[in-house]
Amino acid sequence: MKSYKLREMTEGDLEFVLQWRNHPAIRNVSGSNLHISRDEQYLWFNCSTDTLKFIFTEEEKPLGVIISDANDYWGFYLDPSIDRHRGLGRLMLSLFLVHAKERNFKEIKAKVNKTNEGSHVLHKSLGFQVRGIYSNGDIEYRKGL
Ligand SMILES: CC(C)(COP(=O)(O)OP(=O)(O)OC[C@H]1O[C@@H](n2cnc3c(N)ncnc32)[C@H](O)[C@@H]1OP(=O)(O)O)[C@@H](O)C(=O)NCCC(=O)NCCS
Repeated sequence: MKSYKLREMTEGDLEFVLQWRNHPAIRNVSGSNLHISRDEQYLWFNCSTDTLKFIFTEEEKPLGVIISDANDYWGFYLDPSIDRHRGLGRLMLSLFLVHAKERNFKEIKAKVNKTNEGSHVLHKSLGFQVRGIYSNGDIEYRKGL
């Protein structure tokens, strides 16, 4: 059986994280769909010290990214080149929820693009509740821990 884990993101991960984050499949469902430069990426990494930043791995191989802090929306994505619908997204989020609880997070907040069907299904199946609908149709979800 394969081993799936979360580990802390390091500066050495930033090249592939930037490539994934700038891929259109990820960019178009993110809070901002703007292209992120390498400088911006390093600045974000070094300044967001209160943000939990994790790499999701299969046998040490990076498969995804999950980011959250106690007061902001979480964000996550899988490597855009790997096959979807194999339960990896659900597993990555479930591991993070356990971790966040251990860190005394009281709730997790998500803002999901109205067209992101997979993310809506995933949040609802993990027990997130709809807390608001933005004027552009995006949905805010929350889950108490
Ligand atoms: C969202 C994402 C992490 C899902 O990863 P995944 O490995 O394909 O998802 P899973 O296989 O774990 O599926 C989890 C659930 O969502 C459902 N689902 C996943 N993608 C779906 C889609 N496109 N349409 C409908 N349902 C979908 C699955 O059927 C499953 O539901 P179930 O457990 O009730 O059967 C992945 O597609 C991704 O990285 N997307 C781009 C980034 C993104 O959208 N991030 C979230 C921003 S809020």
